[in-house]
Order: sequence, then structure tokens, then C-alpha cells
Amino acid sequence: MEKTFLMVKPDGVQRNLVGEMVSRFERKGFKLVGAKLMQMSDDMAKTHYDEHQDKPFYGELVEFITSGPVFAMVWEGENVIAIARDMMGKTNPLEAAPGTIRGDYGMTVGKNIIHGSDSPESAEKEINLFFQDNEIKTYSKQDSEWIY
Ligand code: PPS
Repeated sequence: MEKTFLMVKPDGVQRNLVGEMVSRFERKGFKLVGAKLMQMSDDMAKTHYDEHQDKPFYGELVEFITSGPVFAMVWEGENVIAIARDMMGKTNPLEAAPGTIRGDYGMTVGKNIIHGSDSPESAEKEINLFFQDNEIKTYSKQDSEWIY
């Protein structure tokens, strides 16, 4: 079963949206297999966002993501990477459709509530950066027979 990495950013934590984010993915039918509230170090933020190091907003991005606690999660389900990205909506809240997370709660392109892996390669890299193997849980849920 596919896994993805999702993270409530510091603005989402400060705006009391952690529960709402967990609830949206739970209600959709995905399975939470890892989660923790944590503070990212400068080094970790730079590794996480290394693909953006040449972008003009890179410094701002690293400063923002390390400015307060984030809520890191691993979710599991069929096509969870693509579906979670759809549920998040476009990066720029101006383009994010109502009903998506950024469409409903985001106001700026930087403070846009949530991060999600955009491919199987980035999901693997990000899960390994944030979680030890023993922090990812394998368990069965009774509702899965009503989902699949
Ligand atoms: S790009 O250029 O298309 O690859 O960038 P994009 O995927 O849209 O955004 C990558 C992440 O950078 C954040 N971002 C910004 N932060 C601060 N200021 C500005 N102007 C800005 N533009 C983009 C954006 O929220 C993305 O964060 P993640 O955590 O990957 O969603």
C-alpha cells in the first residue's frame, strides 16, 4: 500500500488546524501510520527543501518552516500521494479551489498550512528524513473492508 508524508506547517499548528487536518484524511479513508509534533532544525529544513535552494524564496521558506513546531505525519492508502495533493489544493491559495485545504484555509503562498510529498521518490525521501522505521506502525483497521 502506498505511503505519503504530510506535514502541518507552523502556521497550521498556530491556527489550531492539526485536528482538522488529521480529520480530513481520516474521513477520506486513509490510514495514519506515523505522527509527531516536532521542531525542525535548520539543517533538516535545508535537506527537506534542497530542491528549492536556487529559488528566490528559499531563505524565507527555511526560516518559516523552522519558526515553530510542525506536525509530521505518514498516511497510507491506495494512490494516497496524488489524492492527498488534490485534497491540499494548489500551492497558491489564489488558485486553490474551495473545498481543498489551501482553498479553505490558506491566505498566502508561503503560509499555506500543509506540505505533502509530490511523488513516490519524494515520499520515500521525506518519510526517511522525518521518521525512524520503528515510528511507522503496521496495523489493520476494521473499516478497511468498507473502503476497498
Ligand atoms: S516551484 O517553484 O513551483 O517548485 O515551487 P512550489 O512547488 O510552488 O513551492 C515550493 C514550496 O515553496 C513554498 N513557496 C514559498 N514560500 C515562501 N515564499 C514564496 N514566495 C513561496 N513560493 C512557494 C511553497 O509553499 C512550497 O512549500 P511546500 O512545503 O513544498 O508546499
